Amino acid sequence: MNYFALIPAAGVGARMAVGYPKQYLPLLGRPMLRHTVEAFLRSPLIAHTYVVVSPEDGYVADVLPPDLAGVTVLRCGGATRMESIRNGLRLLAPMVGADDRVLVHDAARPGLTPALVGKLVAEAGTEPAGGLLALPVVDTVKSTRGGGVTTTPRDGLWLAQTPQMFPYALLRRALEEAPDPDAITDDASAVELLGLSPRLVEGHPRNLKVTLPADIRIAEMYLSMEST
Ligand code: CTP
Ligand code: MG
Repeated sequence: MNYFALIPAAGVGARMAVGYPKQYLPLLGRPMLRHTVEAFLRSPLIAHTYVVVSPEDGYVADVLPPDLAGVTVLRCGGATRMESIRNGLRLLAPMVGADDRVLVHDAARPGLTPALVGKLVAEAGTEPAGGLLALPVVDTVKSTRGGGVTTTPRDGLWLAQTPQMFPYALLRRALEEAPDPDAITDDASAVELLGLSPRLVEGHPRNLKVTLPADIRIAEMYLSMEST
């Protein structure tokens, strides 16, 4: 069984609002996408890494030059994250077997490390339903759904991270068959809709998603620290 990484990097970074896609923001002097890709290039477990960018992306060639070994850029990004991933999975068909695992990981999570990739593969690498990194909720959770305010016990609640890893054929089927794919905010939820329970593997706060300007310095702080 082989493990492949698929990195959606076709977003525009509207909430970051820097005038270009946030995956190209310099973090400690290096573009975010390059940090993200390096976690997979440095992991001995990953057979190959595929990066999905938008067809008109004008930045990626400088960040991931064509002669960089171990990574291939796919210019098949779509209007939503799910569309980008679905398009990427279709292009992977000739290279990836039904039972090979695909680790889908946001370009916007540059704090991933080879150690976290290794932990995910060690704990869920052969799970038929796949698995994902996630963090146990540490805050008290309030809900205003019923009109008033109620407290939901945080026990058993998790915050999903990426990578999210599934057998190739299962993930393709889950995303192609999802009733409203664009309403799905992560890959695991599409698999859950098939009645399966992906395994949760405890991640690390350093693997945060860089979404707002305030996240930049937090990401740089983690990137400047030893690998976790
Ligand atoms: N993504 C993608 N294709 C899209 C939208 C998002 O490949 N059409 C990718 C982003 O590049 C990012 C990941 O999905 O690596 C997570 O998305 P998000 O953090 O929401 O990034 P953006 O969509 O770029 O940001 P925003 O929602 O603020 O515009
Ligand atoms: Mg988005």
